[in-house]
Amino acid sequence: MTSELLEKARKYEESCLEYIDDKDRPAYHLTGGVGWINDPNGFSLYKGEYHLFFQYHPYSIKWGPMHWGHVKTEDFVRWERLPIAMAPDSPFDGKGCFSGSAVEMPDGRQMLMYTGVTEVASGGNINLQIQQQCVAFGDGIEYTKYAGNPVITSDDLPSDGMVTDFRDPKVWKEGDTYYCAVSNNSSEDSGVILLYESRDGIHWKYVTVLEANRGQYGRMWECPDFFELDGKHVLIVSPMKMRPAGLEFHAGYGTIALIGGYDPETHKFIRENVQSVDYGIDFYAAQTLEAKDGRRIMIAWMQNWTTIQCEFEDHFYFGQMTLPRELWIENGRMYQRPVRELEHYRSAGTVYRNIFVHEEMSLPQVRGRCLDMTVRVKPVSGKKYSWFRINFADDGEYYTSIIYDASSNHVRLDRSRCGFPYDIVNVREFPVSCCDGEIELRILLDRYSVELFVNGGEQAATMLVYTDPSADSVTFAADSEVLIDIEKFDLEFEWMK
Ligand code: FRU
Repeated sequence: MTSELLEKARKYEESCLEYIDDKDRPAYHLTGGVGWINDPNGFSLYKGEYHLFFQYHPYSIKWGPMHWGHVKTEDFVRWERLPIAMAPDSPFDGKGCFSGSAVEMPDGRQMLMYTGVTEVASGGNINLQIQQQCVAFGDGIEYTKYAGNPVITSDDLPSDGMVTDFRDPKVWKEGDTYYCAVSNNSSEDSGVILLYESRDGIHWKYVTVLEANRGQYGRMWECPDFFELDGKHVLIVSPMKMRPAGLEFHAGYGTIALIGGYDPETHKFIRENVQSVDYGIDFYAAQTLEAKDGRRIMIAWMQNWTTIQCEFEDHFYFGQMTLPRELWIENGRMYQRPVRELEHYRSAGTVYRNIFVHEEMSLPQVRGRCLDMTVRVKPVSGKKYSWFRINFADDGEYYTSIIYDASSNHVRLDRSRCGFPYDIVNVREFPVSCCDGEIELRILLDRYSVELFVNGGEQAATMLVYTDPSADSVTFAADSEVLIDIEKFDLEFEWMK
């Protein structure tokens, strides 16, 4: 049933979509119809199509009472907008429908599982926002919230769990049982991921603490995802208040992957390795699904809470999603690459082999703000070099750089000269495992972002770029001569013509 609040949001979005030109959006990174988006939610396969919901406040480009926006796709690149799925219109979620997930039920319905936020008086004039887990059922377009919500309440928390920080259920099915992993903060400000189980999606039972941060990797862990990948189990979480550790983890909001084993008897995760999921600046709250062909695909909010005050001038939207990425495990690490479906959108291809680079130079066929380019760098035989640099989104005055520092084996993203008039986090550096000065950089540019994949996906790094899309030069330079191979494809999308 459609409430007044949901109807209002849908009508508002529709009326805006009438005058919004898709050419004013990123070309292939998803934005909300209008207004603000954050976390991806309910990224899942339903009746043969991939659905994605997202944290949505259509009415402004600021975070506000959370709705669930809704889109679907067949190829992870072209998205079809669907009516807003949920509004914060019920006694159990009146302060927001926070993040969650989705699963197909045996009876053909889709279940959405999310956090309902409500306010309770806590003495004096103080109101406390509490977070409990709710469900809604639907057909891929219309959803009805379960009248008995919330289905996981404060009563289902361990004794030191805080009901004020209890959110972001990720649901999956194993055999006849539904499981869900939920973020919780303890009274000690220490994040845990709680595991619940259910036979019907409505009656849930607390199982155990799946994993706890044990004083490491930030405090509260938001937005868990848990899945099997190439014989390992992976727990992805987005910690708040991270402390930096070397160049692996940066301060603030990050997204990390804990890789290890899983004991199906005790339901405990057995931690082996921990890594950053993305080494750039704008990446948070990743969520995955298993595609029809078995690939594990991840999407994330291409933004960070630390920089949300930085709006693009004149944009009617705030927040984008990353391009979905394929994940796999190699040598105990989680690798990632852009979904292969992107290759269907490649048009003009240009290949250069063995180009000598030293002084800053450009190549006639290599420019643009919407491209998929792989650059392989190698030293000229017998000669060492210290650094190699690619500048892009360059108009002679403003530019953004990707630098490989061969002497320290670090890669650096730097947007401090992109023309944005605020001194926000602009630089991120991370170690790479290159041998003998050889490195491969796959670079996806969209109009306002760069996604970088190093050495076949061993590391990814994502960053927004605030330069006007008309700045489209690409240049190469190194401190002494190196050789590069380039494969560069323009990306073309019907909806941008
Ligand atoms: C993460 C997050 C979630 C929460 C949502 C609210 O970005 O803080 O924990 O459910 O955003 O919009």
